[in-house]
Amino acid sequence: MDRQDSNKFKERAIREMFARIAPYYDLINCLMSWGQDSRWRRVAVKLARPARGRVLDVATGTGDMALELARYTDSVVGLDLCQEMMRRGQVKTEKKGMEKRVDFIMGDALALPFSDNSFDCALNGFALRNVADINLFLAELRRVVKPGGRVVCLELVRPASGIIGAFYQFYLYKIVPVLGRWLSGDGKAYRYLPDSVGCFLSVIEFQKIMEEVGFRQVDHRSLNLGTIAVHVGVK
Ligand SMILES: C[S@@+](CC[C@H](N)C(=O)[O-])C[C@H]1O[C@@H](n2cnc3c(N)ncnc32)[C@H](O)[C@@H]1O
Repeated sequence: MDRQDSNKFKERAIREMFARIAPYYDLINCLMSWGQDSRWRRVAVKLARPARGRVLDVATGTGDMALELARYTDSVVGLDLCQEMMRRGQVKTEKKGMEKRVDFIMGDALALPFSDNSFDCALNGFALRNVADINLFLAELRRVVKPGGRVVCLELVRPASGIIGAFYQFYLYKIVPVLGRWLSGDGKAYRYLPDSVGCFLSVIEFQKIMEEVGFRQVDHRSLNLGTIAVHVGVK
């Protein structure tokens, strides 16, 4: 299997998994993060400095980041490859009367259907562990953002050592799969979550990749006792 085939294979598996858990995604996120996930997205949006302009939320899922962005700017595009996730985002957007500000587009983050330099900034929340090629993902984000624009990545990070790391690992590997299976009936998806965090990059490793892809002024902010990171880079 060549690289493109293997990317497509992973994408299909990811899309099918999120289609299955879409009805429970928001509730489980909220419970598993102890109600903190909205706050983390708010921090990411503040760091993107989206004031006005056209803004992209890649791997938008059920659209919570896109909706947060719509509080600051009136042209937000949410892109995802899973229609079932975005449909929930669309419903929330209509309920909030934000449908003129947020467009949902089906597409692949690894081949963004936008021309170069077409957004003022771009964000993604909890997407990095799910994409088949992180370098290509970042390169695509960088391509579509205007020079001087920011790219912001919010993600769970690999468990650290020490007491906090031990507690985090216990929570991630022992509690999350049980809670996820109980609430969604999908044990596989919530075993995938800790596994994907466990083999993900450290904050420093990810920062280096952003620099290698060509971002300037790369920095990160740690949240939730270092278990969440928001990386920012400038094109
Ligand atoms: C964990 S969810 C995150 C959703 C949302 N950003 C949030 O903050 O809750 C990951 C999302 O990434 C999407 N995704 C994964 N790979 C993708 C790709 N190559 N292109 C577009 N979306 C992708 C999945 O369909 C899923 O909706």
